[in-house]
Amino acid sequence: MDTEMWKRAVAEAAAKLVRDKMVVGLGSGTTVAKVIQALVKLKSEAIFVPSSSATQRLANDLGLKLSSLDVHGKLDLMIDGADEVDPNFNMIKGRGGAHTREKIVAGAAKRVIIVVTKTKLVKRLGERAPVPVEVLPFAREYTIRRLAELGGEPRLRMGISGAPFITDNGNYVVDVKFHSIPQPSELEQEINCVPGVIENGLFIRVVDIVLVGHEGGHAKLRSKREFLKFMR
Ligand code: A5P
Repeated sequence: MDTEMWKRAVAEAAAKLVRDKMVVGLGSGTTVAKVIQALVKLKSEAIFVPSSSATQRLANDLGLKLSSLDVHGKLDLMIDGADEVDPNFNMIKGRGGAHTREKIVAGAAKRVIIVVTKTKLVKRLGERAPVPVEVLPFAREYTIRRLAELGGEPRLRMGISGAPFITDNGNYVVDVKFHSIPQPSELEQEINCVPGVIENGLFIRVVDIVLVGHEGGHAKLRSKREFLKFMR
């Protein structure tokens, strides 16, 4: 299974949807990194708003024109990856810990395009991925307890140094395994109601198009019907 090639296929397809002069939000992760490389190859003249320091660094190093939400509060497009996508185009995001900014940038965009490999498509959210929850370090143990009361198995994310992983916003991430999430919209709200939680990685009704990389190239999914047909 050459998922690197699948990622490249969707990345190139997504980059072709970007027109010069557009203002485009960029998410984070390995697939978005490939989108950035494809945009550079196409010599894109669009303006980009990055959603993480890693994306900002890569896009800047490769010479893309960058801006911020303060300067460009309305975006034509957002391109981002995901950890799981369900047939209703709801998602789990945040394996890189960037979901808070990604949700803000997606909220500012007229259209959101998600780039994934087919391994990310699920029938129900929670099948594989935990829900990343960004929390204030001050509230670490309290939020962990409250997230367990919601029925999840919370675990503080650790960094490579053995200390807790720190987000671009200076916070911790608690990964909460739910196994199956029948009502993602309700759970998104419940988690965000816990004091100390900054934002969680459930993204509800924000996606317009899902580009899926697979062994035969890529597929463009615009509806639940197309998603289910592709999954068959
Ligand atoms: C970053 O925090 C995440 O939301 C990523 O967008 C997501 O984990 C997808 O990343 P990959 O493209 O690396 O799988």
